[in-house]
Amino acid sequence: MLSGKAAYRLKNLKPSGIRRFFAAAKEFPGIINLSVGEPDFSPPKHILEGGWRALEQGKTHYTPTNGIPELREALAKKAYEDYGLRYDPESEILVTVGGTEAIALALLALVNPGDEVLIPDPGFVCYSPNVQLAGGVPVSVPLLEENGFKPSIDAVTSLITDRSRVMIINSPNNPTGSVLSRDELEVLAKVAVERDLIVISDEVYEKILYDDAKHYCFASFPGVQERTLVVNSFSKTYAMTGFRIGFVYGPRELIFPLWLVHQYFVACVDSFAQYAALAALEGPQNFVREMVEEFNRRRRFVHKRLNEIEGFKCALPKGAFYVFPNIKHFKMSSEDFAQMLLSKARVATVPGSAFGSYGEGYIRISYAASYEQLEEAMNRIERAVRKLKV
Ligand SMILES: Cc1ncc(COP(=O)(O)O)c(C=O)c1O
Repeated sequence: MLSGKAAYRLKNLKPSGIRRFFAAAKEFPGIINLSVGEPDFSPPKHILEGGWRALEQGKTHYTPTNGIPELREALAKKAYEDYGLRYDPESEILVTVGGTEAIALALLALVNPGDEVLIPDPGFVCYSPNVQLAGGVPVSVPLLEENGFKPSIDAVTSLITDRSRVMIINSPNNPTGSVLSRDELEVLAKVAVERDLIVISDEVYEKILYDDAKHYCFASFPGVQERTLVVNSFSKTYAMTGFRIGFVYGPRELIFPLWLVHQYFVACVDSFAQYAALAALEGPQNFVREMVEEFNRRRRFVHKRLNEIEGFKCALPKGAFYVFPNIKHFKMSSEDFAQMLLSKARVATVPGSAFGSYGEGYIRISYAASYEQLEEAMNRIERAVRKLKV
């Protein structure tokens, strides 16, 4: 709880629901932890060696604020090769402490007190608190199950007012795994242009896609590159969560304000992590494909198994590594349901309400755990819910 000593701007902040369940999971022996949003893989050796080598060569000092030039060059190449987008490595790319810092910087640097920010709901837990820290007003864009957990364009347009300044888009989406199609993104791009919105496009799951799903960088639609910050990260693609390294692409006039805040917040990102990230981009990419293939096997299993358990209704997600099953049948709040799973099934999940009010009635299960653990977790969940009197 916050004491009276905390600054007024923190008054509505609460600890993240994910971290709460993650911490609680540690207190129960033998728990299977499906609450965390990180790959259970380790980065391949060439990435670790990239970091080691840098340390051994004495690259242990501050780096330029925006990141080492070699990494920014490699990131510019990636944007061009993946999406045909050109970014100037000097002024249009910023290396950050994960996607998390990039999101915080973007909101602090661009949102004025009273500005409204459209955020996906359910959505990643950092959006709303950072809007509030900036003095802005988070406005929930519902991602409803009946729309495949995607924003309805009518809902988006009806929520835009004269005070709307920023729209956050996240595809593939955490926590639902939904992926926006080319057409859906194009419509959102038109709205952003017509209503003069700045867009923060969170694309940290860009490479974690299944079946026929394809990723389109939001900045590649007509007229939006100059108003879009593309947030990305090494955390999910290369299983580098602990390295804390991400990046942002954007036009100079949007990147410079982020650069300023970044400079006073952290000065620069850890030097060795930047060299490891460079090795990740320059090295072979088969690790990413193999990891996604394994996620796909688990995704199919968890989806099938949950739908076999009476009371669960689970859509098949097209991206990221989460399922977001509907648990309304059990007539419990998602918080109580996740608590029940923790204490009775010894499986840690995250209540949907941790991701916003439209997440109520769902839980998030991460399948970034071993296949064997997932098999055991599904059995435990089945046994626990069978005992519920519904
Ligand atoms: C949608 C989304 N964006 C951004 C992040 C931030 O990740 P990181 O700070 O590790 O790059 C996460 C992490 O879970 C996420 O799910």
